[in-house]
Amino acid sequence: MAEGFGQGMECEDQERNSKMSAVVIVHGGAWAIPSKLAKDCIDGVKAAACAGLSVLKRGGSALDAVETAVRTMEDNTVFNAGHGATLNADGEVELDAIIMDGRMLDSGAVSCVKNIANPVSLARAVMEKTAHTMLTGRGATLFADSIGMCTVPTDILVTEYERKEWEKHKKCITGVMEDFNSQCANDSVGAVALDYAGNVACATSTGGIRNKMAGRVGDSSIVGCGGYADNLSGAVSCTGHGESILKVTLARLILSHMERGKSVADASQLSLQYMRDQVRGTGGAIVVAPSGQWAATFTTERMAWAAVENNVLWYGLEPNEKLKEQLPQ
Ligand code: GLY
Repeated sequence: MAEGFGQGMECEDQERNSKMSAVVIVHGGAWAIPSKLAKDCIDGVKAAACAGLSVLKRGGSALDAVETAVRTMEDNTVFNAGHGATLNADGEVELDAIIMDGRMLDSGAVSCVKNIANPVSLARAVMEKTAHTMLTGRGATLFADSIGMCTVPTDILVTEYERKEWEKHKKCITGVMEDFNSQCANDSVGAVALDYAGNVACATSTGGIRNKMAGRVGDSSIVGCGGYADNLSGAVSCTGHGESILKVTLARLILSHMERGKSVADASQLSLQYMRDQVRGTGGAIVVAPSGQWAATFTTERMAWAAVENNVLWYGLEPNEKLKEQLPQ
């Protein structure tokens, strides 16, 4: 990955900031992505990463960039978030999301929402407009109404493709013992960013596991599990089997390894391996350090990811795949 990028900068803050590069990394979920969805997933993550970078180039913060990148994927029906989310055992949508700002460790989250097209923006509103860090279900929808956020009929979020997949896989139960390398599983979307001022942020959004029990909340909206951001150590967004990620607090675990001197890639690999060894869980993570080092790592069959830095777009789907495109200036 882009390890070593940005290392060794020891100049004064202002000088450092003026030279600092910005980076946005996104994932579209770690799971056994079928080949027929591969191109759409890759195109989707590339578009999301570029949307995030445009925000930074216009002077937006890392927080603005991750919200925009995740909204782009929530609006894209190929991903399990917002429009196109997977259905629970009752055949209903229940969405979870988190956003976190590395400046002051502020975070906001929503869980089990059914009528919100962009849960990541509602999570941001929870962070910025309430004294709380998470709202769930009906209360979250009431809050959305109270701030004038558009709610949608839940059926609008359900695609014909997902309805058919749900019918087909109705008997799948994705448990802790089950490898996430199953096409019964589907996963989340997420973004991490480092802005030109040196601030980091993360966001994660999901429809959760197909056929989950009504009311089940996975890792995505839980701080330290589905995501974490701290300007002192970095930002992480996780994807994979939620119950496993919750057990090992994956996002914080990765940052803890980085705080003890591990590189972003080693910290991610060690933590994902620990999750596999200890609880037989698989998944993936995207990480950015305050230095600009970043990594996209997974233990599932595939994970769609993309990263933009210095007008270069990196992306991949298969293990160890890292493709490169030059973006126009
Ligand atoms: N990683 C998403 C979920 O398990 O809900």
